[in-house]
Amino acid sequence: MYYLLLVFIFITSGLCMSIVNPGPRFPPTKGEVWPKPQEEIKDTAFYKFNPSHFSVKVTGHNCTILAKAIERYSYIIKSKNGVRRSLEPRRKKKSAHRSSSYQGRLAGLDVELTAPCEEYPHFEMDESYNLNVSATSVLRSSSIWGAIRGLETFAQLFYLTDDRNELRVNKTQISDYPRYSHRGLLLDTSRHYISMSTILKMLDAMAMNKMNVFHWHIVDDQSFPYQSERFPELSGQGAYDQSIVYKKEDIESVVEYARNLGIRVIPEFDVPGHTRSWGNAFPSVLTECYSQGNVIGLGPMDPTKNITYKLLRDLFQEVQEWFPDKYFHIGGDEVELDCWRSNPELREYMNQNNLTVTDLHSMFMRQAIPLLANDSEVVVWQEVFDEGVPLSTDTLIQVWKGSWISEMVNVLTAGHRLIFSSTWYLDAMSSGWTDYYWADPRQMVYDVTYNQTLLNGIVGGEACMWGEMVDDRNVMSRVWPRASAVAERLWSANTIGRRSMYDSIPPEVYHRIEEHTCRMIRRGVEAQPPTGPGFCIP
Ligand SMILES: *[C@@H]1O[C@H](CO)[C@@H](O)[C@H](O)[C@H]1NC(C)=O
Ligand SMILES: *[C@@H]1O[C@H](CO)[C@@H](O)[C@H](O)[C@H]1NC(C)=O
Ligand SMILES: *[C@@H]1O[C@H](CO)[C@@H](O)[C@H](O)[C@H]1NC(C)=O
Ligand SMILES: *[C@@H]1O[C@H](CO)[C@@H](O)[C@H](O)[C@H]1NC(C)=O
Ligand SMILES: *[C@@H]1O[C@H](CO)[C@@H](O)[C@H](O)[C@H]1NC(C)=O
Ligand SMILES: *[C@@H]1O[C@H](CO)[C@@H](O)[C@H](O)[C@H]1NC(C)=O
Ligand SMILES: *[C@@H]1O[C@H](CO)[C@@H](O)[C@H](O)[C@H]1NC(C)=O
Repeated sequence: MYYLLLVFIFITSGLCMSIVNPGPRFPPTKGEVWPKPQEEIKDTAFYKFNPSHFSVKVTGHNCTILAKAIERYSYIIKSKNGVRRSLEPRRKKKSAHRSSSYQGRLAGLDVELTAPCEEYPHFEMDESYNLNVSATSVLRSSSIWGAIRGLETFAQLFYLTDDRNELRVNKTQISDYPRYSHRGLLLDTSRHYISMSTILKMLDAMAMNKMNVFHWHIVDDQSFPYQSERFPELSGQGAYDQSIVYKKEDIESVVEYARNLGIRVIPEFDVPGHTRSWGNAFPSVLTECYSQGNVIGLGPMDPTKNITYKLLRDLFQEVQEWFPDKYFHIGGDEVELDCWRSNPELREYMNQNNLTVTDLHSMFMRQAIPLLANDSEVVVWQEVFDEGVPLSTDTLIQVWKGSWISEMVNVLTAGHRLIFSSTWYLDAMSSGWTDYYWADPRQMVYDVTYNQTLLNGIVGGEACMWGEMVDDRNVMSRVWPRASAVAERLWSANTIGRRSMYDSIPPEVYHRIEEHTCRMIRRGVEAQPPTGPGFCIP
C-alpha cells in the first residue's frame, strides 16, 4: 500500500512537473540550407565575406534571367544576411585570422551555365546544379533553372558570427536536384482577394523554398476576380468589388515575375462545380436546383446547354493566351450532383438518354476538356477520376481526399500521373509544420505495393492555401514556414527527416527550420515562429 502510494506520487509529479530552461527552444543553425540538398560535403574551413571584395562572374552562357538572378542574389547576400550597417566599419578581429580554419576572403562566384537559357520554366525542366564554395566559388548547371536554385543555396550558406561583426561561409561541396518535379503551392484568391504585392511576395518565398509551381485557384463560388477582356461582365458582376480584380497586366506581371524565379503559373478555372460567381453575369449556364418543386438557387454548370461550352471555349482561349504554361487545371471537384438530379429538365434529359448524374459529369468533361488548346496538359481534382469520367492517361490527377494511399494506387494503376495534396491543406489551422513534414507520397505507395515502377507516376504535390480564413494580413504567416515542410519533402531525399508519421523528426530539422524562418523574415516574408519560444536576430 505504502509502496503503491509512492509510485503514484512519482508518476503524477513526473506528469505535472515541466522544467523550463531560459533561452530559445531550438536555437537556429548557421548556414544550413532549406530544403536540404541531396549531397552536401561540409567543411569547417571558412571564408570571410567582404562585399567590396566580392564579385559574381558569368563564365558560360548568359541571358537576362541569369543577369537578373545574379543581381537579386548579390543584393540578398550583401544586405539580407543580418549584417547591420551600424556595425560597419568592422573592428579588426585578430582571432579569426589565428583560427586554422580561416581561409581568407571569399573572392567571388563563377556561374557557369553550360547550355543556353530556356524562356519559360516547364514540367520537364532541369533544376539540378553543382556548387563548390571555396575562395573562388563555382556554380555549374546545364539549365538556367538549376542556376537559379543554386544561387538560392549559395545565399543560404552565409552566416553571421556570434558577435555579428562578420559574415562567413564555409567551404562546401553540393550536388543537388529535386526529388519531385512538381512542387506547388495553391493559392485561392476567390474566398478572399489577395493583392498583387502579396502574390509577388508569395512567389519570392516559394523561390526561397525551391518550390516551382504557383497553382492559382483564381475564381470560385464566392467571387470572380479574373477580369476577362472577352467577357468583362464575369468580373463586372462576379467580383466582390471592382477595385479588387486581376487585370490582364496583373496576370502578365505575375507570370513574368514567376518566370524569373523559375516558377510556373498554372491557372485553375474550376468547372462545372464551384462556379456560382459566374452566374451573376451568366445565370443561364448554371443549373437551377429544385427542392419540393421550387427553385432554391443556382448550382453547377448545365452540362446540356451549348452556351455553356461556347462560354468556356472563348474564355479558356483567352486564359491560355495569358497563362503560357501548357498545364491547365479544370477543377471538377465537389460537383453538386443532387442539384442536377433535382432539375426537371435535366431529369428528362437523363431519362431520354438513359444517363445517370455521374454520366452527366462525364459528358460535361468530355466536351469541356477538348475546348482547351490541343497541346494542353490537363489537371483535375480526384473526383473526376473517381466518378469514372473517361480521361486520357495524360491527365494529371490531384489527390486531396482521405484514403489517399488506396486512391493513389488506383490512379497510378489506371496509368495516370498524380500530384499529392491530401495531408498538405494549410487551412487546417491547428496543424504545425511537423504535421506536414512526414508524408512522402512515393514512400507511402511503395510501402503497400513494393512496386518501384508505379512510383514514377507520382510527379509531386502541392500545399493548398484555401482562402476562407486568410487575406493579405495573415496569409504569409499562415503559409510560411508550414509550407516549407512540404517544400523540403518534395525536394530533398526521403532519408531526410522522417519517413512515416510514426518516426520522430530529428532535432537537426527543428534547428534548421528556425534558421530558415529567420532568413525568410530578413528577406521580408512575415513567417510565423515554427516551433515555440525563440528569436531572430533583429
Ligand atoms: C562551419 O565551420 C565552423 C568552424 O569554422 C564550424 O564550427 C561549423 O560547424 C561549420 N558549419 C557548417 C554548416 O558546416
Ligand atoms: C548578361 O546578359 C545581360 C542581359 O542580357 C547583360 O546585361 C550582361 O551584361 C551580360 N553579362 C555578361 C557577363 O555578359
Ligand atoms: C567541385 O569539386 C569536385 C571535387 O574537386 C569536382 O569534382 C567538381 O567538378 C567541382 N564542381 C564544380 C561545380 O566546380
Ligand atoms: C447544340 O449543339 C448540338 C451539337 O453541336 C446541336 O446538335 C444542337 O442542335 C445544338 N442545340 C442548340 C439549342 O443550339
Ligand atoms: C440504359 O443503360 C444501362 C446501363 O448503362 C443499360 O444496361 C441499359 O440497357 C440501358 N437501357 C436502354 C433502354 O438503353
Ligand atoms: C485541335 O485540333 C483539332 C484537329 O486537329 C482542330 O479541329 C481543333 O480546332 C483544335 N483545337 C484547338 C482548341 O485548337
Ligand atoms: C508495377 O506497376 C507497373 C505499372 O502499373 C505494372 O506494369 C507492373 O506490372 C507492376 N509490377 C508488379 C510486380 O506488380
